[in-house]
Amino acid sequence: MQTLINQDVAMAKDFLKAGEVVAIPTETVYGLAANAFDDNAIDKIFKIKNRPNHNPLIAHIGNFEQLELIANPLPSKLNEIIKELWPGPITILCEKRALISSKVTAGSNFVAVRMPKHTLTLELLNQLDFPIVAPSANISNRISPTEANHVCKYFDTKIPMILDGGSCSMGMESTIISYEKNQIVIHRKGAISKKFLESFGNDVVFKNNEKISTPGNFSKHYAPMVPMYLTDDPVTLSEIFVNKKVGFLLYNNHEKLSKKSNIYYLSDKKSDLKLAMKNLYLLMHKLEQDAIEIIIAEMLPDHDEGSTINDRLKRASKSQYIFKNNNLNLHEFTTFNR
Ligand code: TXA
Ligand code: MG
Repeated sequence: MQTLINQDVAMAKDFLKAGEVVAIPTETVYGLAANAFDDNAIDKIFKIKNRPNHNPLIAHIGNFEQLELIANPLPSKLNEIIKELWPGPITILCEKRALISSKVTAGSNFVAVRMPKHTLTLELLNQLDFPIVAPSANISNRISPTEANHVCKYFDTKIPMILDGGSCSMGMESTIISYEKNQIVIHRKGAISKKFLESFGNDVVFKNNEKISTPGNFSKHYAPMVPMYLTDDPVTLSEIFVNKKVGFLLYNNHEKLSKKSNIYYLSDKKSDLKLAMKNLYLLMHKLEQDAIEIIIAEMLPDHDEGSTINDRLKRASKSQYIFKNNNLNLHEFTTFNR
């Protein structure tokens, strides 16, 4: 099957109506979309992505009326949040209605829903009489795609069409939340920070039990093909790996590394965490393409978007090296979801 790459919303609509899987742009990452009411189309997504059936999918809607089709009335706090943040990168967990099959939710009574902020995809969603489900358009556990050519790398000839919406403006998945016992619960860190959610006036807490939370929280995820090592001191780590051909993913400028090749900076202006977030997956894709043996990635300040970026770097890495008072502290990550 030839994969068409274009901006033809009507064509994407026809493929989706015919039960096909189409890649779509959003402000976060590209998604692999199918009709949320068509179990056969949903099966195709799991197969193409090599995704385990127990990992549920996010439903995407183009307007607030579509929410009523799939979810029971929301707690007023969630209503307040989506009124402010949709269309945008917040996903809410809400009680599902009967039209949403258990294939979408992996058997849970809660469905994840969001309204993405991208002109082409909103236009598409508003022309459809069904919502779509869309996981990130990567093979399971690999780096999320933020450009049409990243999707092509994974699924060329496997899907009929990629709706090309350019580079994703945020470059990071949506934040997934629920509302429980007067608290906003973050199930997956994402483009909207904890600090921002605190402005809604409630306590904001993290749910960190992998089994009952979201599989996007599995410890091994978002990984490049080249082994990645995470550190607070890339200079010292590069001395340990002196015999390896190294690629670097850095946040700060390090004079001692400046003459190395295969070096990428998450942000040109220091402390621009939003720019770093937008660049993260893009640069990981670039590093994956370079002729290197390992990647050394530098941890970011652990606040605001930096905290989400660190979360993804940890899941993408084999091990983490922290240097304190000349002592090396090594943490091997588990390969829970390899
Ligand atoms: O920004 C995004 O959210 C992107 C774009 C394409 O919209 N989508 C995305 O989908 O990241 P995916 O499938 O790669 O990640 C969705 C995460 C998974 O960790 C999944 O386990 C969790 O959402 N999830 C989906 N439905 C859920 C549910 N009913 N309960 C708990 N977690 C759920
Ligand atoms: Mg994903």
